[in-house]
Amino acid sequence: MAKLIDGKHISAEIKEELKQKVAELKAEGITGALAVIQVGDDPASSVYVRNKKKACEFIGIDSLSYELSEETTQEELLELIEKLNQDEKVNGILVQLPVPKHIDENTIIKAISPSKDVDGFHPQSVGALTIGQKGFVSCTPAGIIQLLKRSDVEIEGKHCVIIGRSNIVGKPMALLMLRENATVTITHSRTKNLKEICKAADILIVAIGKKEFVDASYLKEGAVVIDVGIHRDENNKLSGDVKFDEVEPLCSAITPVPGGVGPMTIAMLMNNCVEAMTK
Ligand code: GUN
Repeated sequence: MAKLIDGKHISAEIKEELKQKVAELKAEGITGALAVIQVGDDPASSVYVRNKKKACEFIGIDSLSYELSEETTQEELLELIEKLNQDEKVNGILVQLPVPKHIDENTIIKAISPSKDVDGFHPQSVGALTIGQKGFVSCTPAGIIQLLKRSDVEIEGKHCVIIGRSNIVGKPMALLMLRENATVTITHSRTKNLKEICKAADILIVAIGKKEFVDASYLKEGAVVIDVGIHRDENNKLSGDVKFDEVEPLCSAITPVPGGVGPMTIAMLMNNCVEAMTK
């Protein structure tokens, strides 16, 4: 039977460590504040934003909430970001994505000061990661590294196959696994022989965004499987990009959905916020 990689437990452990660290920094007179900006009222975004604010409260940093109307112009949003860039009390700035269509996402990401870019989306942060320099790292892939390390999964020398090439998960995930001395293959929806490539993986990270896409035929026996997908059916039941029941008996360790990768994103956002306090 596979070992279940418990993201709920590991994220709680990380948040406890951060709470302790924030208390120590407070004793030295260092405080933290995260500015969270949401444009419009997309219900999924509202849930994420609420959870981010709750996590700030838990670890002991302030969250400044900016709930802007759907009609907010790009110029208005850029003005707010510039004001927050200049505000010494604000260590981190996060604009919840997606933004409405009339606003250019890349322009917004670029406007956030790299020193406050706790999402790790700024081109400077991504560039730093690419060449092995210090900078903020995208939260979901950083969380996956923590899941593997804290579950004693050896990474060095292993063949890691990633399905998905997004800027938020696939690409930074590949760079982080490379930094950990894995041999990395990035695949995507147009990869030929995808199954054969996946079958060669010691660690398979699935972020393709298709419900239960990976079944047992994609797997080498004993592989470690990380499922980044999250899909909700009509009965509100959650499932991932991996057919869990079919794959689990074959692998040595696997993340469940829910309770695997999901809880790690906010834990790593909090980690980046604490890092921003000491920059
Ligand atoms: N929308 C979905 N995931 C994320 C995230 O990690 N950060 C931000 N800012 N928006 C998101």
